[in-house]
Amino acid sequence: MSVILAIESSCDETSVAICDNGKITANVIANQTIHQNYGGVIPELASRVHQQNIVPVIQQALIDAKVNKKDLTAVAFTRGPGLLGSLLVGVSFAKSFALGLDLPLIAVNHMHAHILAHFIEEPKPAFPFLCLTVSGGHTQIVLVKDYFDMEVVGTTLDDAAGEAFDKTAKILDLPYPGGPLIDRHAKLGNPLAFKFPEPQIKELNYSFSGLKTAILYFIRAQEKLNPDFIKENLDDICASVQHSIVGILLNKLKKAAQQYQIKEIAIAGGVSANTGLRTALTQYAEKLNWNVYIPAFEYCTDNAAMIAIAGHYKYINKEFVGQDVAPASRMEF
Ligand code: KG4
Ligand code: ZN
Repeated sequence: MSVILAIESSCDETSVAICDNGKITANVIANQTIHQNYGGVIPELASRVHQQNIVPVIQQALIDAKVNKKDLTAVAFTRGPGLLGSLLVGVSFAKSFALGLDLPLIAVNHMHAHILAHFIEEPKPAFPFLCLTVSGGHTQIVLVKDYFDMEVVGTTLDDAAGEAFDKTAKILDLPYPGGPLIDRHAKLGNPLAFKFPEPQIKELNYSFSGLKTAILYFIRAQEKLNPDFIKENLDDICASVQHSIVGILLNKLKKAAQQYQIKEIAIAGGVSANTGLRTALTQYAEKLNWNVYIPAFEYCTDNAAMIAIAGHYKYINKEFVGQDVAPASRMEF
């Protein structure tokens, strides 16, 4: 029996979830809107807002799950990777909370957790499976052999897919985070209106910085001819950019599936909320006979439910850490 309280604070969401024997009974997420004014997450502001949010978010999670602090059996938290100051708030709170209640502590790798979000609800993928993990900071193809036995077989050499969305949005004067806005405009546009070059990168790796530069130069050139180019073509630009990014992501995933002879295919991370990616993956699945696993929207972007489910499996393995644990802005798999 386990009732795990989990804290996620790696970037700009303060989130707390409760997992009762493998079932998520609360998942509270406090978003930080302050960064919209700056076109990106300001680390110092993020940690200050985490400090303001953490206590009310914990209280709300306990209320939602109808759980008393005394019923908890462990405290899980995101140890990294992420913004150090933001992580520090969650890690310090988890440590003192566990100390006060005499509970064991479970440290979770945020990237593992994005993948383990697939074990929150049915259908769950069978091992081994391939997971395309696409977030604001990472773009990885991961060979998942077991809950905590994972190998990165492809990764980005520069920008992450989420960054490609966010930086394009910035070029188009859309506020941060731009990914969801590009997605919204893309639904109304023609994905074949403009064509951007696909990077030729070896093996299963990715690169997105060239695409970003190509988009920037294209927009600048068009604006010289027509200063209202963005305004008049926003939907088509967004649809075309999204089509390019999704194509790049799925081409390499297809290559990985062939190379490893695996048909169990999952996506995870914030960009897996993208409708273009979700639709294209479903089409690939039909053509290539894949079983695809796409998380519910609320488990794609940062949330503590995924930390709680990872904590659940670590609790079963009795993988606890001591009070000397420190946050890690970078963390290997
Ligand atoms: O996993 P996540 O919430 O945070 C990190 O761990 O980075 O991912 C955030 C990223 C941002 O770059 C955001 O623009 C992108 O996910 N994102 C999307 C969509 N929703 C979130 N990108 C494209 N389409 C979306 N619908
Ligand atoms: Zn994330």
